[in-house]
Amino acid sequence: MAPRVVLVTGSTSGIGEATALQFARAGDTVVFNSSRSVEAGERLAATTPGSHYVQADIAKGDDRTRLIREVLERCGRLDVLVNNAGITKRIAHKDLASADIDVWREIFEVNVFGTWGLSVAAMDALREAHGSIVNVSSIAANSSGGSSIPYSASKAALDQMTALLAKAVGPEVRVNAVAPGLVATPWTADWHDTHKFVSSIAPLRRSGTPEDIAEVIFSLATASSYVTGQVVVIDGGLTI
Ligand SMILES: NC(=O)c1ccc[n+]([C@@H]2O[C@H](COP(=O)([O-])OP(=O)(O)OC[C@H]3O[C@@H](n4cnc5c(N)ncnc54)[C@H](OP(=O)(O)O)[C@@H]3O)[C@@H](O)[C@H]2O)c1
Repeated sequence: MAPRVVLVTGSTSGIGEATALQFARAGDTVVFNSSRSVEAGERLAATTPGSHYVQADIAKGDDRTRLIREVLERCGRLDVLVNNAGITKRIAHKDLASADIDVWREIFEVNVFGTWGLSVAAMDALREAHGSIVNVSSIAANSSGGSSIPYSASKAALDQMTALLAKAVGPEVRVNAVAPGLVATPWTADWHDTHKFVSSIAPLRRSGTPEDIAEVIFSLATASSYVTGQVVVIDGGLTI
């Protein structure tokens, strides 16, 4: 297979970093991205042959335009967009006052509007390459859990966006999503009780690793040429 150009948003840490490295190991040209952790991004690009790093906050329209422009200027094409960047706030679901409208806006600006805006900005290049998008959702979209109600709702919006966008941009571009369960990343580093709980009840008896998620994202973008509009759950069987 010819090497591809792959942009992974939020790839200085956790699931995004593991995903970018998985594509790079397969010989693809990878573009790392983050909004704040510039040093980590530049270090990853320096130690991953043929890769690049572009700082951009996907919640900002100008940054999204610049990010796609820089990818095309540096690499000449874009084959795969992994919309991994996401944020949350941990708020107990019963604490309605803390989940105020500002929190909803902040989370939706990144998880929903940022993902939509970047996908649209990338679409001409993806159509030209007959490429694909993989969104990183969460099992929180469809369960009664999740770190807060606004976070879970943002991932539910992302699932529906995945299906409708797939319908709108086929046959040139495929659009899929993954829905991880609990994954051991810096994001969940101090969720000790939750890791313990998942390890005790999930059929596979452990939390996920970033690499568990990366391999399914890679497969959706690589070998799954008749799959589009789908959300693949990767949770060790937790939600069965
Ligand atoms: N960990 C889990 O258990 C879990 C479960 C289900 C779903 N997920 C989803 O998986 C994705 C990655 O999570 P993770 O656990 O790997 O998180 P993580 O280790 O905290 O990494 C998040 C990455 O996103 C970047 N980022 C955050 N806001 C951004 C923005 N506005 N623009 C560009 N980059 C941004 C961060 O860098 P900067 O801060 O420097 O920007 C970092 O590189 C998220 O979408 C999350 O919802 C995670």
